[in-house]
Amino acid sequence: MYKELDKRIDEILSGLTLKQKIGQLNQVQQPLNADAKKAVLERIRNGEVGSIIMAASATAGNDEQQAVKVKEFNDFQKCAVEESESGIPIIFGRDVIHGHHTVMPIPLASAAAFNSELVEEAYRCVAKEAAAENIHWTFSPMLDVCHEPRWGRIIEGPGEDPFVASSVARATVKGFQGDDLSDENSLAACAKHFIGYGASEGGRDYHRTEISDYTMYNMILPPFNAAVEAGVATVMSSFNDINGEPVTSSKKYLTKILREQLGFEGFVVTDWATVNDLVRQGACENLSEAAKAAIEAGVDMDMVSGVFANELEKLVTNGEVSMDVIDNAVRNVLRIKLAKGLFEKPYCRLRTVDKTEHLKIARELAAESMVLLKNDNNTLPLKRDMTVSVGGPFLRERRALLGSWTLDGDEDATPNFLEAVQAVKGSEGRLNIGIESPILTHSESAYMHSDAVVLCLGESHHVTGEARSVADISISAEQVELARRAKRYGKKVIGVIFCGRPLALEKIEPYLDAILCAWHCGSETAFAAAEIIFGDRVPSGKTPVTFLRTTGQIPLYYNATPPRSGCTGYYGPTSERNYCDTVGTPLYPFGYGLSYTKFNISPISVSDESLSLDSIKSGASFKFTVDVENVGNFTGKEVVQLYIRDKVSTIIRPWRELKAFKKLEISAGEKEQVTFDIGFKDLGYYLPNGEFTLEKGEFDIYIGNNCKTVNKITIKVV
Ligand code: NOJ
Repeated sequence: MYKELDKRIDEILSGLTLKQKIGQLNQVQQPLNADAKKAVLERIRNGEVGSIIMAASATAGNDEQQAVKVKEFNDFQKCAVEESESGIPIIFGRDVIHGHHTVMPIPLASAAAFNSELVEEAYRCVAKEAAAENIHWTFSPMLDVCHEPRWGRIIEGPGEDPFVASSVARATVKGFQGDDLSDENSLAACAKHFIGYGASEGGRDYHRTEISDYTMYNMILPPFNAAVEAGVATVMSSFNDINGEPVTSSKKYLTKILREQLGFEGFVVTDWATVNDLVRQGACENLSEAAKAAIEAGVDMDMVSGVFANELEKLVTNGEVSMDVIDNAVRNVLRIKLAKGLFEKPYCRLRTVDKTEHLKIARELAAESMVLLKNDNNTLPLKRDMTVSVGGPFLRERRALLGSWTLDGDEDATPNFLEAVQAVKGSEGRLNIGIESPILTHSESAYMHSDAVVLCLGESHHVTGEARSVADISISAEQVELARRAKRYGKKVIGVIFCGRPLALEKIEPYLDAILCAWHCGSETAFAAAEIIFGDRVPSGKTPVTFLRTTGQIPLYYNATPPRSGCTGYYGPTSERNYCDTVGTPLYPFGYGLSYTKFNISPISVSDESLSLDSIKSGASFKFTVDVENVGNFTGKEVVQLYIRDKVSTIIRPWRELKAFKKLEISAGEKEQVTFDIGFKDLGYYLPNGEFTLEKGEFDIYIGNNCKTVNKITIKVV
């Protein structure tokens, strides 16, 4: 992909001293005061710095961060380009995770939109805003497939399914990088965390993982494969160990799999000070050993630990690390700096970005990300002329709506739900303020005189994100009590849940007639939710993760292998055998979400009932067709989902696997035909040795609007 840059890379490399080479592999932290800035400038002048991460702390996601100072960037760049001997520009990185000034939905929420085009468009806006402030490189997307809702970082990822995760990977990488990495509106993306971090045991952050090769290839690697195919510029090595092997010192993961099998051509940066961690983890005796282990495994850039800068020169001089290993890493870094166009345009052209369009897209994506989980007796949408009470602890909340990892979002400019409802409802009917906290602050009598009560519930961003795991994913008992009290008046009670994970809602669900999972959907969360509540928008989000009844069900995800006869899996009809004290099934399955309208999906027709293995290998595919009819009263969008079940295989396959989806907008009373093409890549799977295989036999194909659909046809590979 970057072949044409090789000559230039060779020329630059041949003019560098060992010290300057090692400098390219060193990322330092943003200096936080004048003395620190002076020291960084000195190091840049000496050729000791290849990159600066604009983060004030290790867990930047929930900590206060300094605003980006474009002038300071240019000071550093001037020093690198004009005052250092090599003249190689710095690459500036910042965690622009799901937004910059305009904040898009948390990634878990935007996965729920099942709308890759819209996600790509949103991330294009994010890139534009960040690039205008001289940020070259973002540490996003996070592609950790996750079966652990206790993990705080589930908010940053695409949910529990490798197919959805792969679509998210392609859309976000394309959004950030555009068609041309060197475009001044593009950011270099970073696929993280490579690899397995989402499997942290017990959802404890930074914890160990135990991952079989079979699970690695089929469940965890696919989105990284998709990101590499989409041309992702960088990859971040993760904190965790896998079966006792830290990823940062693993040749198997960083070289054999990432470079040789996936064909990655950009550079690998570690996560925060991870080279240091190799000593703490007990993989290396000292920092010198850690530097050698990391660089030889395939790390190219050391994020802030300083270990490469301090140790590599000695190691090369003593002959313990070969110059080829260093050169290879420098080549990888230079390749991306060249592709990003930094040599031609090292400085930022100051420009203001009009955010009006970005906010529009943010609202659209927020609305498409929200999932209507319950809507008994068409409780929603509410009519504007109703008397509505609003309450709950998140009624006036702004910051939480932005979600974790919003370093540059503006809390004060973020409308809260009360403001949004006032604006959307307008002057028709009445709007009462109900109870906002479990302590009685207003009289409950407001509820008596209302047609409906809307409660703003959920969780704070402070219990989501990095180093913010929880032991219990249930919505708090105080909020259950709030809903119970509201329900006593016999009115319709609607819960709008602002959250960063699939909260366990079993205890509150009986008191709510309708539940809208509004997530932490960024700058436009409140307006998107209010517009859904009053019917200006029709909900279309689908759950990219399973919603459990209770924490004790963890892990519970749809794409698990089926157990023995008499028990058809966590999701199956006999799942009551799973626990004596609760129902085994989830509260809301993967892929689920209601609309204000109703879609009927016809039985499936197929182009061929069987195809030969050889023909499929050489490109033949099954074509599955359904009619989707909007039989309700609203124009709406439906996500039509295709799942497969490989009935017999050498290594058993999941109960269901999502292999395709299409989101369609259909007017009331209209019908559309959808055809899915399913071939070798979709029907096959990876054996534990990494070999991709398709085996002869029967496959059940399901098409519906969530993973539990029974609309099925059987085909054969012969
Ligand atoms: C640690 C986090 O794990 C990573 O995702 C983030 O990009 C870095 N810190 C930099 O802030």
